[in-house]
Amino acid sequence: MTTRIAIIGASGYTGGEALRLLAMHPRVEVVAATSREYAGKPVAAIHLNLRSVLGTMKFSELNMEKIVSEAELVFLSVPAGVSHTMARRLVEAGVRVVDLSPDFRLRDPRLYEEWYGFTHGDPELLAESVYGLPEIHRDEIRNARVVACPGCNATAAILALAPALREGLIDVEHIAVDVKVGSSEAGRQPSQGSHHPERANVIRPYEAEGHRHVAEVEQELSLLCGKRLQIAMVPHAVGNVRGALATAHVWLSDSLDETTIWRAYARHYGKEPFIRIVRSGPVKYPDPKYVIGSNFCDIGFAVELSRRRAALFAAIDNLMKGAAGQAVQCMNIMLGMDEREGLNMLPISPV
Ligand SMILES: NC(=O)c1ccc[n+]([C@@H]2O[C@H](COP(=O)([O-])OP(=O)(O)OC[C@H]3O[C@@H](n4cnc5c(N)ncnc54)[C@H](OP(=O)(O)O)[C@@H]3O)[C@@H](O)[C@H]2O)c1
Repeated sequence: MTTRIAIIGASGYTGGEALRLLAMHPRVEVVAATSREYAGKPVAAIHLNLRSVLGTMKFSELNMEKIVSEAELVFLSVPAGVSHTMARRLVEAGVRVVDLSPDFRLRDPRLYEEWYGFTHGDPELLAESVYGLPEIHRDEIRNARVVACPGCNATAAILALAPALREGLIDVEHIAVDVKVGSSEAGRQPSQGSHHPERANVIRPYEAEGHRHVAEVEQELSLLCGKRLQIAMVPHAVGNVRGALATAHVWLSDSLDETTIWRAYARHYGKEPFIRIVRSGPVKYPDPKYVIGSNFCDIGFAVELSRRRAALFAAIDNLMKGAAGQAVQCMNIMLGMDEREGLNMLPISPV
């Protein structure tokens, strides 16, 4: 028995990555891949890495009634401000939703006006949606009708910090997160800033005031420490195509050495299938280079005892653990499958 999946927004980068993963997944079948621009064109004409993989599959028009009649679960790989207008029709028809966009991530609907500049159209559905980070919300994801996958920068930031907050190891008043992320983060549509000659070789801060992911990171970290906290977070565009590295600068609440921190992280992440703790070797700290193509998140830390400060690191492939890989992980949990199903690929190297 396979589960029938549709992807809305399948011509984009996260949609394409979802197609790649679902094509290798033994227990699902992609029944529709929509693109308004490329409807009628072969999927492999846009996603050249999928040549001959998906047979003659073509992009289809976005026909919601057809999708609800054909699919059991839908991935929404669309820009911000779109899926809050679509999800209701899907769930009313009994179709479950894995949303890769930000529309169902924030618990408070008013935050959409503040951070995204639109009024949320479905606060009721928002209230029941679940933040799709399995390391924190696995049990709620299982039965959810709408799962909202985190942003890529948010995934790295939250996974770097979660155990430290849960165990009260750090001063929650002073957390600064720096994220470096590759160009695929910006999606397929080129803009002045993301067009290759403008973007190649950069190390460029962007959205240094009010990066949208701050809202979801603060929401999740506040839940973990039981206190409303605020963070400083600045993303940087770097020249890589894939990969995101979060470095969280924190101050320790006590004189904790590296082993104590390592033990805390091992307690929380020891059984997580996609978290690897990096501590030694010629490259001592996490680097996205060594997770590319996989759903792994590499976590590590550096401790300066004399200053009672630490740097906490998380490295991911933004299109995998930061988007489509995480979406497939959530889908597996929702469908009661082994959450590693279809995600066993190892990182490619060198990249
Ligand atoms: N890229 C990343 O690393 C990353 C990571 C985590 C989360 N995300 C989030 O995932 C979502 C998709 O990102 P992406 O990078 O895949 O973007 P993308 O490459 O720009 O793709 C967006 C897709 O949505 C479709 N689309 C656009 N407007 C639409 C509308 N009004 N109705 C239906 N379909 C529409 C587009 O195709 P047509 O216009 O042809 O229909 C395209 O297939 C975004 O919300 C993004 O914030 C991205």
